[in-house]
Amino acid sequence: MSTAPTEAMDRERALELVHKYCDKDITVRHLISVEGVMRALARHFDQDEQRWALVGLWHDLDYDRVEEDLERHTKLTLQWLREEGYDDPEVFNAIKAHLHEEYQTDLMSKGIVHADGVAGLLVACALVRPDKANGMKVSSVKKKLKEKSFAPGVERDKIWGVEDSIGIPMDEFISISIGGLQLVAAEIDLA
Ligand SMILES: [Fe+2]
Repeated sequence: MSTAPTEAMDRERALELVHKYCDKDITVRHLISVEGVMRALARHFDQDEQRWALVGLWHDLDYDRVEEDLERHTKLTLQWLREEGYDDPEVFNAIKAHLHEEYQTDLMSKGIVHADGVAGLLVACALVRPDKANGMKVSSVKKKLKEKSFAPGVERDKIWGVEDSIGIPMDEFISISIGGLQLVAAEIDLA
């Protein structure tokens, strides 16, 4: 087997970069939640789980430093990652894709858009449940998806488009995504 570039980046090191470049705890939590959903989606599609996870974990890596100048969003991330010795065109393309439609060219670069949206919704749902991410049900998440006054910052159109985009029916997508959040829930105080 050939050595994929991602094999040089273990999860511990990938997470170190998150802590190095993110200033806000809420950003770190968001990134880890999207990582979990991306990992679950990769398993569903039998894709490269490590690479999908990295896209989730890094897609907003520069967010805290570019808030004032969103024009630089993702560009700074790619610059940092190259400086850290990481350069994977597919991962970089997917990171850009969460912001720019023209890069949404494959399953992973489309997946990040939906993972980004649904992770926001799931975290908001978990925060108002006594059991947090444990035992979350598709039906109640779907209800919250339709309830626009709940977590209004969630970009719901990123969630609704999932079936047309990557072919997973909504209920199944929510179910997979709940499983993804549960993979990382303990790390972000949602277990
Ligand atoms: Fe995001």
